[in-house]
Amino acid sequence: MKMSVIGCGYLGAVHAASMAELGHDVVGIDVDAAKIAMLSRGEAPFFEPGLPEILTSSIATGRLRFSTDMADAQGSQVHFIAVGTPQRKGEQAADLTYVNAAIDGLIPFLSDGDLVAGKSTVPVGTAARLAEKISAGSGALLAWNPEFLREGFAVQDTIAPDRLVYGIPSGDAGSHAKALLDEVYATALSKDTPLVVTDYATAELVKVSANAFLATKISFINAMAEIAEVTGADVTQLADAIGFDARIGRKFLNAGVGFGGGCLPKDIRAFTARAEELGRGESVAFLKEVDAINLRQRDRVVQLVVDALGGNVYQKKVAVLGLAFKPNSDDIRDSPALDVAVRLHGLGADVTSTDPEATVPARRLHPQLSLTEDTMEALEGADVVVVVTEWKEFRELDPVAVAAVARGAIVIDGRNCLDAAAWRDAGWTYRGLGRP
Ligand code: UDX
Repeated sequence: MKMSVIGCGYLGAVHAASMAELGHDVVGIDVDAAKIAMLSRGEAPFFEPGLPEILTSSIATGRLRFSTDMADAQGSQVHFIAVGTPQRKGEQAADLTYVNAAIDGLIPFLSDGDLVAGKSTVPVGTAARLAEKISAGSGALLAWNPEFLREGFAVQDTIAPDRLVYGIPSGDAGSHAKALLDEVYATALSKDTPLVVTDYATAELVKVSANAFLATKISFINAMAEIAEVTGADVTQLADAIGFDARIGRKFLNAGVGFGGGCLPKDIRAFTARAEELGRGESVAFLKEVDAINLRQRDRVVQLVVDALGGNVYQKKVAVLGLAFKPNSDDIRDSPALDVAVRLHGLGADVTSTDPEATVPARRLHPQLSLTEDTMEALEGADVVVVVTEWKEFRELDPVAVAAVARGAIVIDGRNCLDAAAWRDAGWTYRGLGRP
């Protein structure tokens, strides 16, 4: 099937390459010429496991190409909108500038019967407004088809999603839209992937409520960690024990420095802002508490470091392990790990941060930080070691080897990902979050 993907960021680049991998004929379009040049060479503009491989193989077959020219969307039957919806500057709401620009730019190139499929996360009510715009300017239809991919597993999540959601209009237009999406996702549907066919508003809300639920789950366990801390309880064991209840589940119950990234933080804020616009602010008022609990975890990690150093970090050497908002990603958007490093630097600590993938973007954003890709170099002479992204190489560090290069013997486990007993046995003072 011929399709275009408008916006080639984390979402769009992966979607375009994955659709080509599934056998479709895809053009990815973006206004960023440097990004398009890289993608055209088969290079991923960000770290995502498996993406370079499918970019190269699909480009070689001729089924995948990239362009900066919206006119290249012409002739495709389905046009995916995969541009970003960041937080508006100085506000909580989502910024729809890129979505609006993508639709306006696309309309002149749409043919009768084409389907525009929105993937970007948008405030509920956006699709209905865009559908009117599209039908006023063309004979094309709109569907809202949210995306649930996780960074680090984005290719796998796109090729074999755990569910598909189609938000479509009623009547014949809806049947036509569904038939086209069924063709797009024929491989996943043949494997009995659950499909929910619904209206625009439900499809839009599915995405934001899924992210709100995940954020709530993380802040719930972090709140329990705060209580565990003052009672001597162990939040990790608590999470294991409640997680055995199938109604609760163990996933997303890892207490630590909290959630970050390009989705969860801004999505809960945009959801709150939209609910307030709709006169239903009280319905999701708890999300403000979820946000506050989450942001508090960064303070707690910084405070643990300050306490570990006797109340003053000035000119003390701190090794910060992790910059990305989670492992297997180089994404530093709203990263708690980067925030901890920046704050400690601001307090006058001599911070050296390390991350297997995220030092390059971190250096661009915070040139004042001392960064290295060599973990041992970061640990050299450290008075305190702080783990804030649970990369495998950090989880598997040998505490005896680390003790040989560090000066101090205090480790702050901001992700509760280290083997506390092994570090203590090697002579370290171990502090986790909500762990005795
Ligand atoms: C999220 C959703 O999971 C995905 O479905 C949606 O499409 C986009 O937003 P992503 O941003 O890639 O995906 O990250 P996710 O894996 O959800 O992690 C978000 C943050 O929560 C990370 O900072 C992670 O470290 C943190 N987290 C996750 C915890 O602190 N504890 C946990 O138990 C799980």
